[in-house]
Amino acid sequence: MEHGRGAVEALVTPVWQGRRVLVTGHTGFKGSWLSLWLHAMGADVTGFALPPPTDPSLFAAARIAGLIRHIEGDVRDLAAVRAAVATARPEVIFHLAAQPLVRLSYEQPVETYATNVMGTVHVLEAARLDGAVRAIVSVTSDKCYENREWIWPYRESDPMGGHDPYSSSKGCAELVTAAWRKSFFADPGAPALASVRAGNVIGGGDWAADRLVPDLVRAFEAGVSPLIRAPQAVRPWQHVLEALGGYIQIAERLLAGERHFADGWNFGPADDDARPVSWIVERMRAAWTESGGAASDALPDAGPRPHEAGLLRLDCSKARAALGWRPALNLERTIDWIVAWHRAVAGGADARAVTLGQIADYAAASSQSGDRAAA
Ligand SMILES: NC(=O)c1ccc[n+]([C@@H]2O[C@H](COP(=O)([O-])OP(=O)(O)OC[C@H]3O[C@@H](n4cnc5c(N)ncnc54)[C@H](O)[C@@H]3O)[C@@H](O)[C@H]2O)c1
Repeated sequence: MEHGRGAVEALVTPVWQGRRVLVTGHTGFKGSWLSLWLHAMGADVTGFALPPPTDPSLFAAARIAGLIRHIEGDVRDLAAVRAAVATARPEVIFHLAAQPLVRLSYEQPVETYATNVMGTVHVLEAARLDGAVRAIVSVTSDKCYENREWIWPYRESDPMGGHDPYSSSKGCAELVTAAWRKSFFADPGAPALASVRAGNVIGGGDWAADRLVPDLVRAFEAGVSPLIRAPQAVRPWQHVLEALGGYIQIAERLLAGERHFADGWNFGPADDDARPVSWIVERMRAAWTESGGAASDALPDAGPRPHEAGLLRLDCSKARAALGWRPALNLERTIDWIVAWHRAVAGGADARAVTLGQIADYAAASSQSGDRAAA
């Protein structure tokens, strides 16, 4: 395995050094990776979120509360969000806090809308009232689009929609974002506001319930057969660092005053990496076995299945053309990295060091793939 080639010290970046950043949802899977990455680049990071949604969590395993300013609070509470903004005095906000699970959104639709829609309203309103914020990156989802169940990938200009409460709440969060951008953030001195839409991100340190890769890791570690629903469902899988790298690039452009980046952006994998669930299961089993672990055969999940979109692809031409963003890892490598992360941490390695090592390796890989693309 290739890890450790990239140097963590090389991550320090002038544009981020000393930069005050607020990350909402920093106790979650993506927020933990992002907080570590921003901190490694030299940013002064404050996080605002409820306690980690899972136990174990990357937030606890990588001891993130000891690295950044950690504020526990609820995005449904405008006063709490305003207080966090007053404490952090951020120049940049990455808004990730959300109820992110489709199945849970059927059980808790009111909480899902309250968090995902009004939470977004509160973060944007706190930024509007604060006056020092320069750039905001609001994280929604590829599921924000009206899903036509067709083979063509969705573009940023496609209509918002969503069948299940989670997807619909992310479509609503996009509408809220567009309204704040047009109504309050149109002046050159106002915060520049972008929204980012990624597909199914996967990576080490995700212990969410009801997500394929965490379900597989849990089953392999427990020595039981994973239960798989919707084996034919095709999703745009990508490593969490691919999406986060895109979010960071957007923030950098907004900070540089390039206000035409204050818009919606898709970040998804190469077409070949939109794969069925069954492919991921087999590849994870193979990588787990190659790494010396035992991985049982998967079994079909006979439990109830609420509606979930069957086919979803993103058209990322815009990020490619305007940002030069492109995936640096293919799906085979992504799965190798996930297996390496979990095997290392289960074997006693320090989760923070393993995560930072992968961030450094990713930064090296993405600058090489950028060089290749520019050549
Ligand atoms: N993981 C994916 O595949 C994926 C795909 C597309 C979009 N997203 C989006 O990315 C973001 C992060 O997702 P994740 O996978 O890290 O989820 P996660 O469940 O691991 O983390 C969610 C974070 O939001 C916080 N949170 C939840 N409700 C809150 C509330 N009411 N107030 C304050 N904080 C609250 C949690 O404490 C946690 O920090 C979400 O907006 C999600 O919708 C994730």
